Amino acid sequence: MITVRRVRPAEYVEAGQITASAWSPKEPFETAEWTKFRDRVADVAGRDAVAPVFIAVMEGKIVGSVTLELESRVADPANPSPLRSDEAHVRLLAVAPESRRRGVATALMTHCVATARREGKARLTLNTSVHNAGAQRFYEAIGFQRRNDEVLADGSTLASYELDVRPVVDS
Ligand SMILES: CC(C)(COP(=O)(O)OP(=O)(O)OC[C@H]1O[C@@H](n2cnc3c(N)ncnc32)[C@H](O)[C@@H]1OP(=O)(O)O)[C@@H](O)C(=O)NCCC(=O)NCCS
Repeated sequence: MITVRRVRPAEYVEAGQITASAWSPKEPFETAEWTKFRDRVADVAGRDAVAPVFIAVMEGKIVGSVTLELESRVADPANPSPLRSDEAHVRLLAVAPESRRRGVATALMTHCVATARREGKARLTLNTSVHNAGAQRFYEAIGFQRRNDEVLADGSTLASYELDVRPVVDS
């Protein structure tokens, strides 16, 4: 069974390690660029102070995490556009490599959708690398629509996705 809930402070370090493991290269690899990225991704405490970080727990172990921006943006100089009032934004969805294709990311995103809807948001948005074909297939599999790509200040391009999370009203 997969349980999704807000991370607890005592779990920040472990959740950070699991989150970073989702992007770890297969072979040991230490470059300044990778360690900077790894340390940013592993900073669950920093993100949870601004936007809730949710974890997925399976058989007593943390196996994935996601950050959900509801009111405030996690600082990101490359992507400073403001969060709109009707928007919730997903960041750093991550599942440990050994726990993939078992519905963990689906459970995390289902929780994000329910939370955004409960908070009165209309749209759940996210970005992923234009090179991340696996993530793109995942987001499309769970119903996200592709929007215009975003070109960041550093020149890189991100694929943008959006899901309408307004409650369906019977007519
Ligand atoms: C992308 C990611 C979050 C998916 O997590 P997951 O727990 O394996 O996803 P799920 O098990 O919930 O997948 C549900 C469905 O999405 C699709 N899917 C998921 N991963 C896929 C992949 N790599 N390639 C193609 N389709 C994929 C499939 O349709 C899958 O259903 P199936 O397993 O019955 O075929 C995970 O691979 C990951 O952490 N990747 C590295 C970090 C990353 O890219 N994060 C997202 C971008 S910021």
